[in-house]
Amino acid sequence: MDNRYLALAQPGIQGLAAYDPGHDIAELRRRFGEDRIVELGSNENAHGPSPLARQALERAFAGIHRYPDPLGGDLKRAIAASIGIPRERLLLGNGSHELLMLIGQTFAGPGLDVVASQYGFLVYALAAQCAGARYVAVPALPMSSSMPRGHDLDALRAAVGPQTRLVYLANPNNPTGTWFSTGALDRFLFGLPDHVLVVVDEAYIEYSTDPSLVSAVSLLERHANLIVTRTFSKAHGLAGLRVGYACAHPDLLQVLERPRESFNVNIPGLLACAAAIGDDAHIARVREDNRAEREWLADQLRARDLRSGPSQTNFLLVDFETPATPIESRMLAEGVVVRPMRGYGLPHCVRITVGDRGENLRMLDALDRAMEAVSLASTA
Ligand SMILES: Cc1ncc(COP(=O)(O)O)c(C=O)c1O
Repeated sequence: MDNRYLALAQPGIQGLAAYDPGHDIAELRRRFGEDRIVELGSNENAHGPSPLARQALERAFAGIHRYPDPLGGDLKRAIAASIGIPRERLLLGNGSHELLMLIGQTFAGPGLDVVASQYGFLVYALAAQCAGARYVAVPALPMSSSMPRGHDLDALRAAVGPQTRLVYLANPNNPTGTWFSTGALDRFLFGLPDHVLVVVDEAYIEYSTDPSLVSAVSLLERHANLIVTRTFSKAHGLAGLRVGYACAHPDLLQVLERPRESFNVNIPGLLACAAAIGDDAHIARVREDNRAEREWLADQLRARDLRSGPSQTNFLLVDFETPATPIESRMLAEGVVVRPMRGYGLPHCVRITVGDRGENLRMLDALDRAMEAVSLASTA
């Protein structure tokens, strides 16, 4: 590669590696066929979206020659009604990924620290580096040598210093599946200095069935430095539309409005998400089906002597207690996609999305063959 262009980039970008998508999924779909590939690598929703969202999508194409509403007024009204906050407290994004980056770009910068947990979602480090800020990863609570337990809120609090501008927390977290209670978050937020903004990323919150974990949206009135991000990509089953939202103090959102691309949410996204968020019955069904299937899958793994961590999400982090690459690559050769965790510093683990029963059975079959082949190879 000719480094001429890299030398022209700002220092934060020079130190970055481009996003690793895992696999060339389009190529894998062609190779195995849409009906044979099993995609359990990206925490998508096997149930798909609400039928109301599908109907809205059909209507969306009639107006596709227009620009989308840059204010996203109708979608904000629908979200506000659903989660019970004023719409001035909402900002829309091209997926919550865009918002996580926008927050970094707006508030972090050279000479400032961004604090997050070890095994926190990778985008937080990316947001810090892009802004030229220092990324401080705080050790997670251990469970075993290779399986993390989750965010250590006391240690995260202790890592906050005069240079800290942002703290990113994921609740529940990807890739660990772990979570902390809303009460613990409330205590964490109290007494933080005014110059520290706390982002609570709730991409998986709709999957939670633990009564101690309710959305941090309920804490917004008490903490003016809190930003909650949520998404339509997971439980709402609309990952392909790229829509997320941030909830925060209206004056804070006015600052984020400045660098926001005016038409960052497209017409199909605005219409389908407004329809989806009103379908509480669909989300309740998704949550319950996911819980039951996740428990079944964890039992199936346990029966194979494989441990998975506790999870309030639509995925399990599975510990092989031995390097997982040979197993994961054998599964991939059969068209079963799961997510390797080397990039997170967890080479013994893979993250497996909870699919529907058919997908999970096919994944387990491939897993059995892969484990047998690996154990034969090691005894040969
Ligand atoms: C914890 C977490 N936050 C945010 C995102 C980004 O989601 P999206 O940009 O699709 O809203 C993801 C996606 O996997 C995630 O796992």
